[in-house]
Amino acid sequence: MIKRLILAVWEWIDDRLGISDLIGPSMSHLVPSDAKWWYVFGSATMLAFIVQVVTGVALAFSYVPSSSQAYDTLLFISNNAPFGRFLRGLHYFGASAMVLMIGAHMAQTFLFGAYKYPREMNWTTGVLLLGFTLAMGFTGQLLRWDQTAAWSVVIAAEQAGRVPFLGSWLARFILGGNTIGGATLSRFFAIHVFLIPAFLFGFIGLHLWLVLRHGISEPPTAGKPVDPKTYRKEYHDLLEKSGHPFFPDGAWRDFVFGAALILAIALLALIVGPPVIEKPPDPSLLDADPRPDWYLLWYFAVLSLIPAKTEGFVMILAPAFIGMLLLVVPILNNKGERAASRRPWAIAVVLLSVIMIGSLWIAGAQSPWSPNFNAMPLPESVVGVSGGPVHDGGVLFHDKSCLNCHLIAGLGGRRGPDLTYAGDRLTKDNIVLRIVNGGNNMPAFGSMLKPAELDALTAFLQSRKRPVR
Ligand code: HEC
Repeated sequence: MIKRLILAVWEWIDDRLGISDLIGPSMSHLVPSDAKWWYVFGSATMLAFIVQVVTGVALAFSYVPSSSQAYDTLLFISNNAPFGRFLRGLHYFGASAMVLMIGAHMAQTFLFGAYKYPREMNWTTGVLLLGFTLAMGFTGQLLRWDQTAAWSVVIAAEQAGRVPFLGSWLARFILGGNTIGGATLSRFFAIHVFLIPAFLFGFIGLHLWLVLRHGISEPPTAGKPVDPKTYRKEYHDLLEKSGHPFFPDGAWRDFVFGAALILAIALLALIVGPPVIEKPPDPSLLDADPRPDWYLLWYFAVLSLIPAKTEGFVMILAPAFIGMLLLVVPILNNKGERAASRRPWAIAVVLLSVIMIGSLWIAGAQSPWSPNFNAMPLPESVVGVSGGPVHDGGVLFHDKSCLNCHLIAGLGGRRGPDLTYAGDRLTKDNIVLRIVNGGNNMPAFGSMLKPAELDALTAFLQSRKRPVR
């Protein structure tokens, strides 16, 4: 009785709205029956995106994008709001999952040659979706509005400022003015919740439409190259012969993998939790260790490791070059063998990318370029025991935080040059000028030191000489 009623209601609604006409064909369309576990990453990416939309909207209920309140509302969400910490965790690990799944999806479609005729535009729209996703990661990080977040954006703006010709305009565009402030936050918020999501929705729609239009690619067979003249007919025949309907025969793996992904995101959110909210942003605090979230860390590492003068070019040219390469590959190379065993260079490209990003990522995680805030006072073996300017200078070298950035006999930080043998290289004037005025990435200490302290530091550095034998 109730069943008949529900069925009748459903039939009434379906007749008026045409839901099954819309969904039905995409559910029942035939897919190659040997498309198995390798094919789950696309739907997993979309699932992660849905997690992001749902948790993002929920976060926006409590988040106030104003420079005076953002920090406090986030503390409130993390510490007081029911499930707030869990929610932030979901949003953070959802983002990580989305980036990872896109990576896996790209590697798989690339290795399977799935971007070849007629699916070139599936690849192109996918590359754009990758760009939008990374942009979401970058803009989202600033919304945390704590010290690390603010500094990362300041650094991005400074690096953008070094881009030839467009630099100052780019930097102003990123910051929404000359310095970081309320305007920056409003701008990042608008971009993060309105602009890029609009693009994401649009291009995901297009991407899915293309998937339906061309069908998912059959797993490649070595020795069966793609010929645009015959491919469509061959694909059609293959489906007629051995295809099965997407739902449920093809889709169950997507459900299983998707459920596992959601479970992993939820467990990480619950156990590890979201990134801690650090101190509120304060440009006068120097002991910030700005670094982007892990999926952008490797790029940060590139920019920090290459010589400062080339940064401006690399910063904009490298992504532009990689982007162009990714967009052009399928259009120029849309025929021929699909099987990875016949395209060894494709395997090499994927392996090299993974190794490169992996090692840069490790470099980024260790970040030798950022100050070492745990530097211990220099031992007596280095500074000597007796009083006197050299000894006092050695003590000051730690107390004035010089040691955080400079190495002395292997102790300290690596942000600035190793000063173990500074006395051999630098004159007294060199040293004094540098300490007073600072310079590339070294703060000026002129106003922070008493004359006697400056003398002691200088004496200490002058005494750093290679032992004479
Ligand atoms: C935030 C990190 C940082 C701190 C703190 C710092 N320095 Fe530096 N220092 C640097 C960097 C980076 C350079 C290299 C600047 C350049 O490339 O011109 C440098 C350069 C120098 C040089 C010149 C080295 C050379 O080989 O030319 C001297 C001398 C020096 N610092 C002394 C000091 C002293 C003394 C202190 C403490 C009062 C100090 N530094 C604090 C980062 C720092």
